[in-house]
Amino acid sequence: MVAKDVIRIIQDNKNLGMKDRLKTNLSQVLPFIEGNVIEIGAGFGDNTIGFCEVANNHNRHVLVIDPFESDWENMPESYRYPYEIFKKTMHPYEGLYSLCKKSSLDEEVKIDMENLLPIAFAYVDGLQSEEAVLSDLRLMEKYDVKLIGIDDKNRGGVKEAIEIFLEESKYNLIETQENNREAYLWIK
Ligand SMILES: C[S@@+](CC[C@H](N)C(=O)[O-])C[C@H]1O[C@@H](n2cnc3c(N)ncnc32)[C@H](O)[C@@H]1O
Repeated sequence: MVAKDVIRIIQDNKNLGMKDRLKTNLSQVLPFIEGNVIEIGAGFGDNTIGFCEVANNHNRHVLVIDPFESDWENMPESYRYPYEIFKKTMHPYEGLYSLCKKSSLDEEVKIDMENLLPIAFAYVDGLQSEEAVLSDLRLMEKYDVKLIGIDDKNRGGVKEAIEIFLEESKYNLIETQENNREAYLWIK
């Protein structure tokens, strides 16, 4: 029953604008799914604030995994978001989220994830090579994250990673619109 409800919500909201869609999807699915929220790759925190507001309304916590400047030497320039901007944006939301300031490829993020269990929703928007996205998706599967959103579903590495993951994992793709930037995967 839950699967049907969650899939219907994601499909019904497919015509909303991106930012509104992410927030509305989360606020409507959380009543159906137990657990916390995770964001891999937060940038300036533009979506993190929405995740925090919604999660807080449902008594859930948000974990952000992002190394910010501590890993700039391993990132293409377009992924380099100054930590100070994120920190300033997130100032009003202190206490509603935790920051694990590490690469999602670092084994140590598992400690923070284990402290967050169960996890209802994860938004994957970090490093976008096929290898990195696949690693992030496998990490989400390891912790039985129920619903996964992935940004830039049509970008080379991301697209390939989603295809491989759908073949190998216990997740199904929720069909939405081709021009929606993000893909949603639901646990089988
Ligand atoms: C495009 S931005 C994210 C934008 C944000 N999700 C939004 O919607 O506003 C990409 C982010 O990924 C982070 N990042 C880069 N490599 C990463 C890694 N290995 N693990 C986690 N985050 C990473 C960067 O620091 C940057 O903040």
